[in-house]
Amino acid sequence: MEYVIVDGEILDRTVAKVDIEDRGYQFGDGVYEVIRVYNGKMFTGKEHLQRLVESAEKIRMKLPYSPEELEPKMEELISKNELDTGIVYMQFTRGTSPRNHVFPAADVAPTFVAYTRKVARPVESMEKGVRSILDEDIRWLRCDIKSLNLLGNLLSKQKAAEAGCFEAILHRGETVTEGSHSNISIVKDGVIITHQADNLILNGITRQKVLEICSNEGITFEERAFTLDELSAADEVFSSGTTVEVMPIVEVDGKPVRNGEPGLVTRNLQNLFKAEIERQCGQI
Ligand SMILES: Cc1ncc(COP(=O)(O)O)c(C=O)c1O
Repeated sequence: MEYVIVDGEILDRTVAKVDIEDRGYQFGDGVYEVIRVYNGKMFTGKEHLQRLVESAEKIRMKLPYSPEELEPKMEELISKNELDTGIVYMQFTRGTSPRNHVFPAADVAPTFVAYTRKVARPVESMEKGVRSILDEDIRWLRCDIKSLNLLGNLLSKQKAAEAGCFEAILHRGETVTEGSHSNISIVKDGVIITHQADNLILNGITRQKVLEICSNEGITFEERAFTLDELSAADEVFSSGTTVEVMPIVEVDGKPVRNGEPGLVTRNLQNLFKAEIERQCGQI
């Protein structure tokens, strides 16, 4: 049996239901998180739950649970589903009420849904690297919120998929922001450059972990906007995200990055990131 959480209760997935007037369904009025699970343990779970609270605050929604209350619920779900390697997904919407753009009354409780899914580490892609396209970033100006409104991301990711690519690298004019479902970094002369954590990108937990590793290891990085020209002149390009960890990008819009093979800085980061996972969750 597969278990899910609906409004704090663990249920059999086949009987779990959400109302058609749920505001997540009608408006995408809610926030979500995806946490990686290795060996049945959440990786950087606390950081993800903290970001969930922050996303909710930014859309003026108060979550009915604290991160400290959510963590054991997720652990219970992982354990009931006997999940070894995968993800736990959770979302909170602004509840169920007759469709109206105005927020519902304060006594309408948020709807809380969570489930788990088996997701293997994409080891082959991580080894060989993946291809990408460029796409104009047409999203709103609060990309720092992990909101359920993902249409801009979906349209770009679909375009990438139709081109046989893993990711769409988004840009606002000349400025590269992030990917449709990951953060983007470039490496030039040994220095890692990635967009600063502002309203134009989601401040990825993986991105933050990578930068923390860089600080600890003495690897130089710059958090600043970079241009399409800098992207095409980069020695290395990589994507980072919860399910893909550190993923080398070896082609951008049909043009190879350097010699079209993952570079040494990215490879080193992949190894250091894996070591961090193993420190928290055991051998993978
Ligand atoms: C738009 C976007 N940027 C960045 C990320 C990476 O964030 P994280 O490392 O927290 O998974 C994601 C992940 O889903 C994303 O959707």
